[in-house]
Amino acid sequence: MRMLRIGLLGLGHVGSAVVEALSRHGTLLARRTGRPPALLRIGVRHLHKPRRITVDPALLTADAWEVVRDPRVDLLIEAIGGVEPAASYLREALRAGKDVLTANKQLVAAHGRELRALAAERGRAFLFEAAVGAALPIVQVISTALAGDRIRGLVGVLNGTANYVLTRIERGATREEALDDARALGLAEPDPHDDLSGRDAAAKLAILASLAFEVPVLPQDVPCAGIDALSEEAIRGAHRAGTPVRLIAAARRQGDGFEMGVFPERMAADHPLARLAGPQNGVLLYADLAGEVFLQANGAGGAPTASAILGDLARAAGQGEALSPPAVPAIVPLRSGNGTATDGQLVLDGWA
Ligand SMILES: NC(=O)c1ccc[n+]([C@@H]2O[C@H](COP(=O)([O-])OP(=O)(O)OC[C@H]3O[C@@H](n4cnc5c(N)ncnc54)[C@H](OP(=O)(O)O)[C@@H]3O)[C@@H](O)[C@H]2O)c1
Repeated sequence: MRMLRIGLLGLGHVGSAVVEALSRHGTLLARRTGRPPALLRIGVRHLHKPRRITVDPALLTADAWEVVRDPRVDLLIEAIGGVEPAASYLREALRAGKDVLTANKQLVAAHGRELRALAAERGRAFLFEAAVGAALPIVQVISTALAGDRIRGLVGVLNGTANYVLTRIERGATREEALDDARALGLAEPDPHDDLSGRDAAAKLAILASLAFEVPVLPQDVPCAGIDALSEEAIRGAHRAGTPVRLIAAARRQGDGFEMGVFPERMAADHPLARLAGPQNGVLLYADLAGEVFLQANGAGGAPTASAILGDLARAAGQGEALSPPAVPAIVPLRSGNGTATDGQLVLDGWA
């Protein structure tokens, strides 16, 4: 079987989770794609920094161009963040015939169209599921599952840190306590300004609106208000009144143009977006044929982001050689009573 030779840029929250996920799911990926993944090089900024995970020091380089230009690398994963130099790395990798995957919303929002065009010209993949909502498979749903439909609008919670902070404050934490915990969990950036001001959600909405409506929308085009001006008491009061605040990102077709914005909104407590807790993200899509489609997933954190990156990796690697049909598995029937009903939610034993 031909190996899938991978170069990785970044070994922070996301990069480390990708290394762990490749090690944990390498066999599964090999079976599904027919190409066993092999991590060849990792670009970092600080070569000797203490890290959460242990990697072979021979894989590391402080010169990202070495990874980008390594002729052995088939596929480059970018997890460093920021627009530059990340955009230059991805451009060069595509020109050199590599597939590229990224978790970087700023980069995709600013250069997504150009990089998609370059990838198409070179016959390579440029995939970015992880850039919007981490494990939320929204890019795939818009660009593949609903490719035959016309999306009229979408409403979502697209920032895991803001949702984590809101729901922690609702339960009594201060804003600072919630932010400290979000940083410790790898959800928030060291400077969470973009998360709380709504700019991060605006970049993600720009990406989704560009895909859904096939028009160029840039982050700076999206009117934006965040949760930074809301007091802790206002957040708790809204929660007690049964109308919790959520940071909403919404866009819809309107006449010949579009309406869009990011803003805090009090929601009915049983609205699917109001029920999102902690770092969860969710999006309601409104499409001509499908009607309403709702997606919900962990919208931040290393492992959920690695899940989206590995999904893109499997797409880029393509379908595997035909596998022999698996044996029919033993099936144990699930019946009413297997689960425990808590607050009206069915939780199957051992699943949650
Ligand atoms: N964290 C999340 O929950 C999450 C979710 C979805 C998407 N994302 C996106 O994923 C990306 C990475 O996020 P993160 O949370 O993993 O960030 P992070 O923990 O700060 O890690 C960034 C990594 O990139 C390396 N790096 C930075 N600039 C570099 C450069 N010029 N050349 C080589 N390496 C460089 C750093 O090296 P050193 O370690 O040596 O300093 C570090 O390992 C960002 O675009 C972020 O928006 C994050």
